[in-house]
Amino acid sequence: MAFTIKVNGTTHSVDVDGDTPLLWVLRDVLGITGTKFGCGMALCGACTVHIDGAPTRSCVTSIDSVGTSQITTIEAIGTTAAGAKIQKAWLDLEVVQCGYCQSGQIMSASALLAGNPHPTDSDIDDAMSGNICRCGTYIRIREAIKQAAQSSRQGG
Ligand code: FES
Ligand code: FES
Repeated sequence: MAFTIKVNGTTHSVDVDGDTPLLWVLRDVLGITGTKFGCGMALCGACTVHIDGAPTRSCVTSIDSVGTSQITTIEAIGTTAAGAKIQKAWLDLEVVQCGYCQSGQIMSASALLAGNPHPTDSDIDDAMSGNICRCGTYIRIREAIKQAAQSSRQGG
């Protein structure tokens, strides 16, 4: 069945079964591979994208549920104000270790900062608790979110 979806500002037509997870449409049909597969069960956060700005597990989001929503992936998050601040902080603090979880981490962190420019530790924990990192980069992730929030406070 044909679906028309909007990804990173571009409209795509895809011909897949309606229950196909968005993750596989992005990766296998459209070749947009920055979004990663980890568990396939909404347990790890590696597949996080934004749907109309909301962090969403694309591994359990069927293509027929997406409709005309705007999908944003790691490839375009740097074009948003919050995403650019988060990515800068990630680089400044060298957050990444193996990298596998990090696109999902950045998508969750960017959604947090977009909705809450000055998150508390508890806000950060709540927003990031579903994103698992096997390399244990959690401390740097928290510091990077704080740095990005600080740069918002300074207008940077
Ligand atoms: S792959 Fe989607 S949450 Fe793990
Ligand atoms: S950086 Fe390796 S899994 Fe998170």
